[in-house]
Amino acid sequence: MKILIIGSGGREHAIAHKLSLSSDVSGIIVSPGNAGMEKTLPGIKTQKIAADDIEALLSFALKEQIALTIVGPEATLSLGIVNLFRANNLLIVGSTKEASLLETSKAFAKKIMNEAGVPTAAFSEFFEAEIALQFIHSSPHTKMVVKCDGLAAGKGVVVCQNKTEAINAVNALMKDKLLGENIDHIIIEDFLEGIEVSAFALCDGESFSFLGTACDHKRLRDGDMGPNTGGMGVFSPASIFSIADELWINENVFAPMLNTMKKNGTPFTGILFAGLMKTKHGWSVLEFNVRFGDPETQVLLPLIEEDLLPWFKASAAGTISELQNKLGRLSPRKSNLVGVHVVMAAHGYPGTEGVKVRSGDKIQFDKNFNLDSKDYLFFAGVDGIGSDLVTKGGRILGITALSEKFSSARKNAYDLISKIHFDGAQFRRDIANGQV
Ligand code: AMP
Ligand code: GLY
Repeated sequence: MKILIIGSGGREHAIAHKLSLSSDVSGIIVSPGNAGMEKTLPGIKTQKIAADDIEALLSFALKEQIALTIVGPEATLSLGIVNLFRANNLLIVGSTKEASLLETSKAFAKKIMNEAGVPTAAFSEFFEAEIALQFIHSSPHTKMVVKCDGLAAGKGVVVCQNKTEAINAVNALMKDKLLGENIDHIIIEDFLEGIEVSAFALCDGESFSFLGTACDHKRLRDGDMGPNTGGMGVFSPASIFSIADELWINENVFAPMLNTMKKNGTPFTGILFAGLMKTKHGWSVLEFNVRFGDPETQVLLPLIEEDLLPWFKASAAGTISELQNKLGRLSPRKSNLVGVHVVMAAHGYPGTEGVKVRSGDKIQFDKNFNLDSKDYLFFAGVDGIGSDLVTKGGRILGITALSEKFSSARKNAYDLISKIHFDGAQFRRDIANGQV
C-alpha cells in the first residue's frame, strides 16, 4: 500500500516511522513533510503540497494511487479533506468537517458531551460581552475558565484565578477582539482542579480502539512556568491511569461520544483525543481534539508493538469491530516499557513574549550521537540547505526514549538531547520529573 501522510511536524514523522515498519507498506509520502524526515527514514519522500490545499492533495492522491491517507493537523480536517477524499472513493483516516467541530467549537463539544452524558465542567455560552460580564459578577465562584469558540492556536483558553481576570479575558476576546473578528462568542466554565491526562481512541464511526494515554507539558519553562506552547515534552503511559480507568473512560467517554455523534448524523471517524482531568469527584473531560497530539504521538506510537496499518485501514473502512473480532482483542498490542519525549524548540518560541522566533540555525549532532533501538529522533521545524539541516522556527525536533522505568527513559532522552546543538535551543529539563 502506498501511504500519504498530511502535515509537517514531529507527529507526522512518528506516524511515518511507525508505518515504515509495516511489511504491507510500499511507499510513504509526507506532504508537506520536512527535510529531516527524508534524512532519517530512507524510502520516505516529501511532497511540497501545503496541508491546507485539499484540492491539490486530492489530485495528488488520485494520480499517485494512494491507498490510504492519514491526516495530522486539525486545520486540514476542518477544511473537509475527509469528506472530499471519501467522495472520491479514497480511504482516509480522520474526522469529517462536521465531526471536526468537536475540536474547533468548544460550545459544540460541550453540547454533545451534555447530550451524551459525558462528565464535563458546567458551562454557559455568551454571544454578548455585557451578558458575560453580568454572569461573572453574579457567579458564586471566584475561579472560572473563559474559552473562545473557534480555533485559536492554543490561545483561546484563559484560566482565571479571580473575577478581575475573567472580566479582562471577556473584554480582550469579545470587545478588543484580541484573537480576531471571527471569535464572536465564548463559553465560561467552572474551574476544575486535578491531574491532567490525554487519552486516545482510534474510531470508525461506530466502534473504537483505545490507543493509550500520555501526559503533556504545555508550558515553555521548567516547573510549568512561562507561556503556553503546543507541548514541550510528554511521557506515556500516564501513571495515574489504571486499567479500571481505561474501562471507565471507554464506557463513559468514548462509547457515548461515538453513539451520540452517530445518532446526530455526524459519525466520528479518525482519532478522538480526550483531554481529561482526574478531579476529587472523578474524571471530567476538559476538551476533545480530533487528531493525534503533538508531541503525544511521538511517544504513543513507539509504545505500540504491532503494525498499525491494519488498524488505520479499519478506521478508514469502518471495520474496527471486525478487526477486533479477528484478532481477539480490542486494541493494538502495547509495550510494557514507558516512554519520555523531550522537545527542542527555537529561540523565541512560542512567539508570545515579544521575542522574534529564530530560524536558519544549523543543527549539529556530536560524533557520539547514536540512537539505540529504543531511542527515536523526530524532526519538526527543519529545512534542508545542501546536506545540512537548519532550524525553521517553532518546535524543531524531539527525542523519545523508551525504557523499563521513567527514570532511565528520562536519562536516555536527556543524554541524547545534550548531544544535539543549535543556536538558541530551548528545552525543558524537567520532563517526566517525579515519575518512577
Ligand atoms: P483546553 O484547550 O480546553 O484543554 O484547555 C487548555 C488547558 O486549560 C487545559 O489543558 C487545562 O490545563 C486548562 N483548563 C481547561 N479547562 C479547564 C477547567 N474547566 N478547569 C481548569 N483548567 C482548565
Ligand atoms: N500537545 C497538545 C496537542 O497536540 O494539542
